[in-house]
Amino acid sequence: MKKLMAANWKMYKTGAEAVATVNEMAAMLNGTAPEGREIAVFVPFTALEAASAAMKSISGASTGAENLYPASEGAFTGEISPVMIKACGAAWVLTGHSERRHILGESDEFVGQKTAFALQSGLRVMLCIGETLEERESGLLRNVLERQLKLGLKDVPAETPAEALAIAYEPVWAIGTGKTATNDDIVETHAICRELMREIMGAKADETPLLYGGSVKPANAGSILTLDNVDGVLVGGASLKAESFTQIINA
Ligand code: 13P
Repeated sequence: MKKLMAANWKMYKTGAEAVATVNEMAAMLNGTAPEGREIAVFVPFTALEAASAAMKSISGASTGAENLYPASEGAFTGEISPVMIKACGAAWVLTGHSERRHILGESDEFVGQKTAFALQSGLRVMLCIGETLEERESGLLRNVLERQLKLGLKDVPAETPAEALAIAYEPVWAIGTGKTATNDDIVETHAICRELMREIMGAKADETPLLYGGSVKPANAGSILTLDNVDGVLVGGASLKAESFTQIINA
């Protein structure tokens, strides 16, 4: 399986800024993802169309939206559908990001509806899961991951191809804090995630990329990528500058 090198630009970058960063990445990568690597960049809705057009100059790279509403169209003021996302040229969408769960109050059930609807609509989905520090310290790590995976994947159609789905494990306490989980934490938690994925989706679990996210940077990406059950990384802050994200892609 190729390593999936993903960037989440969150609420950063206008369209013009996103295009400039993609163009810088294209120059640094000589127009192609390195061998054995695939690139996905999640960008704000307002930059999606322009960034998707610019991303065509990097082979092996695609864009994604950071959110969706689970309907093709309708009276849902302020929301964006998978049809609209695909029309912008994006291949992917994120669901269940911790900022949407914890700041916007999204439930596991709603994350599950979004995941299933996006897959049915032909988007690739990166479902994010992860525990808070309080949950980890109370011994609830496995319960939380199990609940988020079970409900997040509840209505995923059985015929979904393995490459249409990725899981990103992002401990909430490691996001944007500079506190990376230790390699031992990552190995232990990714083993739990893989076991739960096998319970839920059978053999397909081993072909579904499982990414780590949370304070990944050029200095730690290389060692994280060698760990068992780590099929890629999802990078926030350190993906905003082309140079830093390109170093991670090449790590
Ligand atoms: P940071 O890399 O800034 O910790 O963010 C991680 C993240 O939330 C990616 O989705």
